[in-house]
Amino acid sequence: MTSVAHSLAVASTAFTLKPSAQSPRLLELSFSAATVQAYLDAVSEWPVQALEYKSMLRFRVAKILDDLCGGELQPLLVEKMVDRNSGGLLITPQGLDRVEQAEEMVKFTTAVAHLFGRSNFDAMSGQYYARFVVKNEDNSDSYLRQAHRVMELHNDGTFVEQDTDYVLMLKIDEQNMEGGNSLLLHLDDWEALERFYHSPMAHRVMRWTAPPSKNTSKDVFHAVFDTDRSGQPIMSYIDQFVQPKDFAEGNWLQDLSEALENSPAILSVRVPMGSFLLINNHFWLHGRDKFIANPGLRRELMRQRGYFTEAKTLRNPRQ
Ligand SMILES: [Fe+2]
Repeated sequence: MTSVAHSLAVASTAFTLKPSAQSPRLLELSFSAATVQAYLDAVSEWPVQALEYKSMLRFRVAKILDDLCGGELQPLLVEKMVDRNSGGLLITPQGLDRVEQAEEMVKFTTAVAHLFGRSNFDAMSGQYYARFVVKNEDNSDSYLRQAHRVMELHNDGTFVEQDTDYVLMLKIDEQNMEGGNSLLLHLDDWEALERFYHSPMAHRVMRWTAPPSKNTSKDVFHAVFDTDRSGQPIMSYIDQFVQPKDFAEGNWLQDLSEALENSPAILSVRVPMGSFLLINNHFWLHGRDKFIANPGLRRELMRQRGYFTEAKTLRNPRQ
């Protein structure tokens, strides 16, 4: 890695990196339109379907993007994703911001994710990524696609056995939307962390289960808090899918939920079309603010979740 990539603000012809105005932990990585176009041209022979069918191609498109960035992108992503003081990026590929370019957006996010990790099979879609639409009306069985509600802060992967080290969330489309910002909270910014992490309940193994739409039927057992290899607190928590077994667990979880939702340290982040958030899932919680009702409301999102391949994961393996 060059010394340039170590500094907080990185400027190359291919991309720029700087801290966001909202938090020095959340970095803004922007790819030049020329880099984006050169990448799309270089991978034009492979439709997204080819990336779905052949896992190896996801790593090849990653290499193509890194080569276009002079080999500086991969070490930067590997470093930032496990950096406890950061671990969060808002990424913008310039010129890739129209819904007609959805396939190209998926190709671009795939390249970024496979420079430091590998995206897990997503049981909701049956692919390594999932695209889904949020509309004004919804009758699904979780808050994921319900527009007029806050989706509370949570970690992903709480009810699956796969490691979920990172979460990537792309905004493909947005029409008639007012509100609905992404909400993010870094554990070290949360004023109640010490109180909850040191509670006896923090390390009690609890049961986690998912509604039918998640296409996963097996219960998973783990505690809300864990300690990573460097001794730092990490979390695996979501309010909708934890099944407290008794009065004490239920009330502790409700206290935890209220302490998270009321934190003044929550970042409210506007993600433009074509941009995506990439976070370390162990020490960033994410959620979504509510929308204003509008019959023409439409939002399309894509997600990828997966595990780190190029750096040691910070979490201890789940038993
Ligand atoms: Fe999530």
